[in-house]
Amino acid sequence: MYNPTETKAFQKGTQEWLLKTRDKNIQAQIGSEIEEFRNCLRFHEYRYYVLNDPLISDFEYDSLFKLLEKYEKENPDSVSADSPTQRVGIGLIKDFPKTQHLVPMLSLENSYNAGDVLDFDRKAKELSGLPEIEYCVEPKFDGASISLVYEHDLFTKGVTRGDGEIGDEITLNIKQIRSVPLSAKFSKYGIEQIEIRGEVLMNKKNFKAYNDALIEEGIPPLANPRNAAAGSLRIKDTAEVSRRNLEAFLYHVSFIGDRKPGEQAVQHQQPATHSGMLEMLWELGFRSPKNEMKVFKGIEKVIKHVQDFETGRDNLGYEIDGMVIKVNDLSLQDELGMTSHHPRWAIAFKFKARQATSKLVDVEFQVGRTGAVTPVAKIEPVQVGGVTVSSISIHNEEYISEKDLKLGDTILIERSGDVIPQIVKSFAELRKGTEKKIKFPKQCPVCDSDLFKPEEDAVWRCVNISCPAQIVEGIIHFVSKDAMDIRSFGEANVRKFYELGFLKTIPDVYRLPYDEIASLEGFGEKSITKLQQAIEDSKTQPLNRLIYALGIRYVGETTAKTLANAITHLSDLKDFSEEQLKELEDVGVKVASTVFKFFHNPDNQNLLQTLEELGIQLKNEKKEFVPGGNLEGQSFLFTGTLTQLKRSEAEELVEKNGGKLTGSVSSKLNYLVVGEKAGSKLEKAKKIPSIKIVSEEEFIKMLPV
Ligand code: IVH
Repeated sequence: MYNPTETKAFQKGTQEWLLKTRDKNIQAQIGSEIEEFRNCLRFHEYRYYVLNDPLISDFEYDSLFKLLEKYEKENPDSVSADSPTQRVGIGLIKDFPKTQHLVPMLSLENSYNAGDVLDFDRKAKELSGLPEIEYCVEPKFDGASISLVYEHDLFTKGVTRGDGEIGDEITLNIKQIRSVPLSAKFSKYGIEQIEIRGEVLMNKKNFKAYNDALIEEGIPPLANPRNAAAGSLRIKDTAEVSRRNLEAFLYHVSFIGDRKPGEQAVQHQQPATHSGMLEMLWELGFRSPKNEMKVFKGIEKVIKHVQDFETGRDNLGYEIDGMVIKVNDLSLQDELGMTSHHPRWAIAFKFKARQATSKLVDVEFQVGRTGAVTPVAKIEPVQVGGVTVSSISIHNEEYISEKDLKLGDTILIERSGDVIPQIVKSFAELRKGTEKKIKFPKQCPVCDSDLFKPEEDAVWRCVNISCPAQIVEGIIHFVSKDAMDIRSFGEANVRKFYELGFLKTIPDVYRLPYDEIASLEGFGEKSITKLQQAIEDSKTQPLNRLIYALGIRYVGETTAKTLANAITHLSDLKDFSEEQLKELEDVGVKVASTVFKFFHNPDNQNLLQTLEELGIQLKNEKKEFVPGGNLEGQSFLFTGTLTQLKRSEAEELVEKNGGKLTGSVSSKLNYLVVGEKAGSKLEKAKKIPSIKIVSEEEFIKMLPV
């Protein structure tokens, strides 16, 4: 899309524009250069979203973007339909009108083994009379298919697949996908109107983060990134669609409407092959699978390639469910034509399913450390995506009725990537009438006390604080890897020691009767010494680990770090009011309330005192100071929202590397690190020339690797 000379020119231009963002009179100067300024932003969108290789920091991009927004607000006549600003701030969508595709969106024929692919090749050779065919092979992206229309170089319409003939128009939502250009120079190829097909994806990392957030909220996670992508396209709030960070691969040109002859000089010939089309799309700024595709002459090489690709499937950042093999020559594609269902010039080679069917045999109810009672489906063991699955969390009552699950049902299981297995659905049509309703217990399955369901909650809870399940789960959490990290303890030992009466509370972890343990089967001298040492070592774990280990509701690892950073001794937390807690980064009403209650509960205060008496470090050990660290002698202040690091982590890094933290902007400040939505501190710092204003990325680059 941009050659090295153009790239250099844009880089130089960007630096000039960045300098100008600090200039008060810039507005007047933009006027005639507005299109160049927009091109500069488009160049950076392309670097970031298509190439995945940004040349400037988010902060720098944002400051350029804000300048453009401001200029366009003051000069509304200058706004163009393909301005980078036209992706955002669109607001709520009323409905998605039905739209007819220019060409029906067909499916692909599926194949599952080399034999099917050989058959496909044989038929294509017979029909064409050719001895050998050239194929283009590319991944089969596992997302939601879309169709895009560009007219006179402008993106005009984005449509879902629908029934293949008619889909929903989701143009505004497609504009939230930053790798989809709002305009592209199709006119260079003599193209007046074009319809392009592709797939919208949510990558694995974003999917995991999205699901983790749902689980945190007590909402059942989604089964796979495909559902997440498809669901996101139908959201009526464009800002929310934008937050989902969707991506799109464009892999097929389904219709080209040419300019009338002589109407405009044609600079390039339209490609005659599918791979040429993917290159054309890439050249025009689209994320086509140009780098993922491969062209082969003859089917044997194709078969080897698709089989090899399957092994590397898990290394991709997004899900694919197979490969698509396409006849490369477009006129040969026309000659082979289509059936009513699929083209005869393409076939999908499907990878091993990450779905499987099984039977829901039983449901067990587990009590977690917060007393939440979670139904767990016991299923007939089945292989999915390389692992055997025999039990699956089914979250809560609402989920069970939503999925219409019954004991004895045939169910569809899915396990995508590194995501926990999920039940996709039950097959109601296969029921024999013997299936049974799943009954939720009214009493705790462990201690038999009555269960309770707060109105705002989706789960039933056992509120008996001496419920053995909660105690055991609480201790398992305390010793776990991310908490106190007592390696040789393990879940089984916690359960055993609890049953034997050695462990009744958390402090008992530090008062184990080792001579009695020595007489137990399976505990040799070596393993006891190891256990003893691991327990001893845990006493000096950093305070944030201890806070996390206590299992305070809603206090995850990040919040634990924030809390630890705000204090010098764990008992300090009882001096914080809920209001003061809320002032800490990422601490909301819910967290503030549970933390406040936890540290004001006399039992918990006793627990902390006992732990301290047993030698556990409750003091916030001064973070290690690195003499001569990169940042030695320099002072830092952070403002705005950081996107890669938590504020507390960034501050910790400053101190770890010998830097100092400062509370306000003054001439003593060396570095102001600016995150998103920075306000008055930034304005103030701009007036003091000695302060270096840096982005989060620049700050990270200052740190030792
Ligand atoms: S070509 C006329 N190429 O798979 C043929 N489809 O199961 C147009 N898909 O509906 C489709 N990756 O949504 C093509 N590289 C790829 C694809 C791909 C994913 C989807 C597409 C299609 C479905 C068929």
